[in-house]
Amino acid sequence: MIPNRNFRYRATLRALAAVVGLAVALAEAAFAAELVVYSSRKEELIRPAIQAAEKALGVKVILYTAGAGELARRIELEKANPRGDVFIGTTAGFAELMREKGLLDTFTSPLLNEIPAEFRAPDNTWVPITARVRVLVYNTNLVKPQEAPKSYFDLVAPRWKGKASVASMGERTTVGWLAAILAVRGEDFTRKYVADLKANGLKVLKNNTEVRKAVAGGEYAIGITNHYYYLLQLQDDAKSPVGIVYPDQGPADMGTPVFSITAALIKGAKNAEAARSLLEFLLKPEGNRLLVEGEFEIPLLPGLHLPGAEKGIKGLGQFRRPALSQVQIAELEPKVERLFGSAMTP
Ligand SMILES: [Fe+2]
Repeated sequence: MIPNRNFRYRATLRALAAVVGLAVALAEAAFAAELVVYSSRKEELIRPAIQAAEKALGVKVILYTAGAGELARRIELEKANPRGDVFIGTTAGFAELMREKGLLDTFTSPLLNEIPAEFRAPDNTWVPITARVRVLVYNTNLVKPQEAPKSYFDLVAPRWKGKASVASMGERTTVGWLAAILAVRGEDFTRKYVADLKANGLKVLKNNTEVRKAVAGGEYAIGITNHYYYLLQLQDDAKSPVGIVYPDQGPADMGTPVFSITAALIKGAKNAEAARSLLEFLLKPEGNRLLVEGEFEIPLLPGLHLPGAEKGIKGLGQFRRPALSQVQIAELEPKVERLFGSAMTP
């Protein structure tokens, strides 16, 4: 009895080991077909484009979402054995830092020829997928359209004392906005501008969502924010009393800054080929449209529908923008954080 039982026990163990071994092998095979995307875009906004890519390319995408800074640190730590294949960022700042550290591989596509070169890394280690514009929003119950500020620099005037708000530098576009001013107007001017804004009661709120709500609610007459927050506010409540201004549009003005939303292939990616296909898919109209519509961004590729055009949103080429590349803006971001980090804290 006992030897027999022992035999059965050992046979069961062997069978179990075979099953476990098979499961491990299957898991490894499945892992090889999985593309790991590190994304600092909100998951719900990027999910439709990712799902369409999975279907079109026949790959499974593992989406890992965190802040761009955290992802950049993770990619650096994993440098010797990358776990991620694709990085999807917000503005160019962290992508440019990773390029400088040699953490990104090049990616080329004929579609990139249709996007002005200023929006990508010169060596194509990061590429733009969509863009956002830094505008002013105002409360139409408090400010008549003809009286709305036409320039960021109007906001230091007594007329706007205590009436303007902006998001903290936790929002990368606040950093990029000041970096663009620093690039065009220089350090002395920008230091004085920020000091004058603060002296005029500029309110620093936590994020852009707080800014759009504070403006719509009449708490602040003006908000310095991104164009799509105007659309998000109207999506929340179509009757919101909000207007939009593309500032600094005069012939001698700096123009309204535009920021690339970036994507990159991580150097040493285990699934580099599939990663390239994903990046290509995100640039093609089929995938790009989903990204643009996910957060009401503006397309960089010609011929795509512009969300909010009927509500006053302007596409690339329909307004004046600074003569700056994304690299020039990104390079000044650490300096902006150093100079204005404490002033731009809620
Ligand atoms: Fe945002």
